[in-house]
Amino acid sequence: MEAQSQIVESFKNQTIFLTGGSGFVGKVFLAKLLTVCPEVNTIYLLVRPKRNKTPSERLRDIFSFSCFEPLKSKWPNFQEKIKLIIGDCEKIGLDIAAQDREILRREVTIFLHAAANVKFDQSLKLATYANVRAMREVLALVKEMTRLKILVRYPCFLSAHITRILCRCYSNMSG
Ligand SMILES: NC(=O)c1ccc[n+]([C@@H]2O[C@H](COP(=O)([O-])OP(=O)(O)OC[C@H]3O[C@@H](n4cnc5c(N)ncnc54)[C@H](OP(=O)(O)O)[C@@H]3O)[C@@H](O)[C@H]2O)c1
Repeated sequence: MEAQSQIVESFKNQTIFLTGGSGFVGKVFLAKLLTVCPEVNTIYLLVRPKRNKTPSERLRDIFSFSCFEPLKSKWPNFQEKIKLIIGDCEKIGLDIAAQDREILRREVTIFLHAAANVKFDQSLKLATYANVRAMREVLALVKEMTRLKILVRYPCFLSAHITRILCRCYSNMSG
């Protein structure tokens, strides 16, 4: 079986939970997934309210990116596959409402966690909330998911901060 058809088969009838779908990696992944694997069951997309925009407005913004243009002409109703989950990875429980969490616990089979704070001038506290504590909260949710088969975490660059801390420790030791 060629690689592409294996991927198509793997995602067929699967229920995906994607965080970071509004980001660079997430948007491209979402467009590619819908293009190559139209038989995916449902994609739950975690979006946080931001910049005076509601999550629904933000969802519209995501689909206005050019990577979705080929999909729009090929499959105008592709958005029917997407369901919005309001949340915030910096918060405990990812700030997901109890009824949404229950849906995710019951239905999700593939969890793709691409949300991250990749601002290198961010305070360590905020970067830790978004990139480290969020992972703890993701794992707590994963443990409750009864049908989960796959968890994917896109690599995260908190290491930039860790390097800075190590440099400070070494300079203190040598000073
Ligand atoms: N870009 C690359 O070339 C590349 C290569 C390899 C690995 N990666 C890794 O892939 C991951 C994503 O990178 P990216 O380039 O796509 O970054 P990005 O464009 O900055 O996107 C970050 C995504 O995370 C979301 N996010 C951040 N904080 C959040 C929070 N508190 N709650 C919910 N969502 C939150 C953002 O949502 P908002 O829209 O609400 O801010 C956005 O969707 C990172 O771990 C990165 O290290 C990226």
